[in-house]
Amino acid sequence: MEKYAEQTQQEFEGWEEFFNKPVDEKVNAFRSGDRIYDVIYAQQFDRKFLDYLCRLADSIRLLAKTKVGQSKLRHLLPHKRAMLYFVQPSTRTFLSFQNACHILGITTSETRGTSTSSEVKGESPEDTIRTFASYVDLIISRHPEAGFAEKTAWVLNQTDHPVPVLNGGSGPDQHPTQALLDIYTLEREFRTIGGLDGKKIAMVGDLKRGRTVRSLSYLMKNYQDIELVYVAPEIFKMKDDIKEFLDKHRIPFTETEDFESIMPDVDAIYMTRIQNEYGSDPTSEAETFPQFHLRPHHLPKIQTHCAILHPLPRRYEIDIRIDKYPRAAYWRQERCGMWIRAALIAYIFRVDDEILDELS
Ligand code: CP
Repeated sequence: MEKYAEQTQQEFEGWEEFFNKPVDEKVNAFRSGDRIYDVIYAQQFDRKFLDYLCRLADSIRLLAKTKVGQSKLRHLLPHKRAMLYFVQPSTRTFLSFQNACHILGITTSETRGTSTSSEVKGESPEDTIRTFASYVDLIISRHPEAGFAEKTAWVLNQTDHPVPVLNGGSGPDQHPTQALLDIYTLEREFRTIGGLDGKKIAMVGDLKRGRTVRSLSYLMKNYQDIELVYVAPEIFKMKDDIKEFLDKHRIPFTETEDFESIMPDVDAIYMTRIQNEYGSDPTSEAETFPQFHLRPHHLPKIQTHCAILHPLPRRYEIDIRIDKYPRAAYWRQERCGMWIRAALIAYIFRVDDEILDELS
């Protein structure tokens, strides 16, 4: 599609000042009454909320097992419409959000690239988002720019027609709903051994630019006696802001490049791929960083209860022969995404009580 004009730049008074504040001082701007309204950062979630959302997700998936239950869910929000504005590639976040909306009866519209919207005519992203808010009750966005979802929510909240904004990934910055599904998966994987409290978790791969490991690290402050092990090559080490956050919240962590040495010690291994989209790093994963790949010969080294997670998509970092291993949780993990996102949307639109009452 031809681009007719450069994007219009708009200056919003007060935005820079707001953006530069510490997150702790900003979270209230994204609440409405007693609830989270816009989902922008993982730091918005506390333990009570996380436990509640996991319980709600369990209830939704239980109800959805029957035709009658599915019908009840679909009748909860048929009067609501959602826009999926996904202008950075996505398979599972897009589909899981879209299907989560449909489970609750919400009608969806979508834009999957700026080339088919009026942004090619020079319309600013902010005006584009305002336009969505004229037609729908919820905006879910995936964008290559860090801070995009935050600005979207902030801009809409200054208008007389705000709608909730859910951040489905904003550049290398945050992916808060991925962190929700990761927590939900970990809690389910550890259900018979006391849940996530007290567990030691390895995060492996491109920790520098992987937004999923950043958001998940933030959530660890909500759990007791967690230990983290960051396993990455020197050039992809976890950034200092996250390490400072862990220090502040007294969450012990170590860093290593020796993946094999920590395998026997951890309760979960969270694999990630190299995030080539944010740089000009090598693309031939088969030949790059093989010491950070998980292979079948590693399985005897890990504990029998150790869960293997990956936000997906994967390339070569988990051998497909591992998929059959019972503790390979990544396909279960992506299914958890749809249920926890349905729970989040039900919570945002305040139909959570109706769901829980259905099963009481
Ligand atoms: N985990 C994740 O965000 O996957 P997609 O990029 O496919 O949405």
